[in-house]
Amino acid sequence: MTLGIILYVVMSLYTPVTNVDVGVVDLGGEFLLPLPTKVTTVSVEEAILLRKSIREWSDKPLNITQLSMILWVTQGVVEDVHGWLRRAAPSAGATYPLEIYVVVGEGGVYLGEGKYLPAGVYKYDFRRHSLRLVVSGDVREGLWRASLMQDWVREAPVNIVICAVYERTTSRYGDRGIRYVILEVGHVGQNIYLMATALGLGTVAIGAFYDDEVANVIKAARNEKPLYIFPVGVPLTPHKMTFEELHKIYARLRR
Ligand SMILES: Cc1cc2nc3c(=O)[nH]c(=O)nc-3n(C[C@H](O)[C@H](O)[C@H](O)COP(=O)(O)O)c2cc1C
Repeated sequence: MTLGIILYVVMSLYTPVTNVDVGVVDLGGEFLLPLPTKVTTVSVEEAILLRKSIREWSDKPLNITQLSMILWVTQGVVEDVHGWLRRAAPSAGATYPLEIYVVVGEGGVYLGEGKYLPAGVYKYDFRRHSLRLVVSGDVREGLWRASLMQDWVREAPVNIVICAVYERTTSRYGDRGIRYVILEVGHVGQNIYLMATALGLGTVAIGAFYDDEVANVIKAARNEKPLYIFPVGVPLTPHKMTFEELHKIYARLRR
């Protein structure tokens, strides 16, 4: 018993983190996410078949593993090639112009043991697979206004905002770099759609918003330009589709 208490005290002293939430480590403003791993059994072809833009959410939160996986497919590391950290989506000349923000609503991300990630705006640190707090509090109302009052933005537990630092790519490719950046964000968007689908979540690509207002809501740096928003949540009605049903559609189309 006494040994147990001594061990507990010693271990507390040598634990450099303040947190103890399940699956996330709070270093004080930086939240280490659970590391990416194989969490679904859905094949790519099933995810593509089932992908659909979802705009109605149940009142369930995401869990931290789901958020971790969604963020990893945006810009997470997939290989260390002698110090070059290759990412989850392709990038013209590996210039990696994209920065990822996450708008978390109140009670939007469940950590386990009755705890939630504090509402706020976070920036994704791809190297550490962590989130850094940028703004405290639920800013979904502001994001909703900035995105032409599309209700699925305000009601989603989480919104992923993808910003571009164009100069990273245009400094190498000139004006053509603008095209490359816009193509690149599409790759990331599709990764989000497919990962969300495989996780049993839903999302919708949002392109209609006031860039400056969104940038202001998330407190993006001056050179970070919002390109795309992805509200993510648990679908109110799960979309169902099978290959058998698809074959019937093709049979009709081939008549
Ligand atoms: C570039 C782009 C911008 C889009 N912007 C919006 C948007 O602002 N609001 C919205 O509700 N859906 C938006 N969508 C989603 C489309 O409406 C949707 O993909 C389309 O209706 C096809 O449906 P599906 O995705 O379920 O196959 C956008 C899609 C793309 C590719």
